[in-house]
Amino acid sequence: MRIIEVESYEKLSALAADIIGAQVLIKPDCVLGLATGSSPLGTYSNLVKRYEAGLLDFSRVRTVNLDEYCGLKGDDPQSYRYFMDTNLFNKVNVKKENTNLPDGSAGDMEAESERYEALVEALGWPDLQLLGIGQNGHIGFNEPEDTFPTKVHTVKLTESTIKANSRLFDKPEDVPTHAITMGIGAIMKAKRVLLIAGADKAEIVERAFRGPVTPQVPASILQLHRDATVIFSRA
Ligand code: GLP
Repeated sequence: MRIIEVESYEKLSALAADIIGAQVLIKPDCVLGLATGSSPLGTYSNLVKRYEAGLLDFSRVRTVNLDEYCGLKGDDPQSYRYFMDTNLFNKVNVKKENTNLPDGSAGDMEAESERYEALVEALGWPDLQLLGIGQNGHIGFNEPEDTFPTKVHTVKLTESTIKANSRLFDKPEDVPTHAITMGIGAIMKAKRVLLIAGADKAEIVERAFRGPVTPQVPASILQLHRDATVIFSRA
């Protein structure tokens, strides 16, 4: 795996947008695996700027997002669907019907997990999967466990993840306790993986990518991916 260190969040965001933009240029109908959180915000705004400048065309791109909170409808401002719509999808020419996230408000989450797994497989797995990393090493919402969960599944979020995510909610009790996430299988089947991490993730980046591969640090599995790039910003 490649670990690229840059000196600022701006450089991280520009480089990540270069890599994603190149993917769209090389394969206009590519499948982009996308992520939410604070880390990709700069990447998405760079992609929007390039689209507005006429440099990128998303009209044939298909997208699959990693995860969604359980219990939130897509029009809830805290949902990941809302995040993606407002930060990227509504600002570029991707067709809404080509954008996919798990449905956190589905009545039967087991059926929803099977539906989403089958959908990602039918799309041929992501050509490029963008990832952030949680303070405990989670990717998507694959939390530290005894084994690597392979398929789409629902998870009970750990206390540390709920605490980290509470900054984005008005009241701590509003933070969802469960989520639905792509498994490690789909992430490992992505043809390329791009993980972005800011300076606040220095410790977990060290553990995940310079330490042993273990399901207790889920991102560590990326050491075994055939084409993984980590962009880490020192500031
Ligand atoms: C959430 C998301 C992850 C994301 C992580 C880090 O838990 N499910 O996909 O990588 O947060 O988020 P941030 O980039 O805001 O630190």
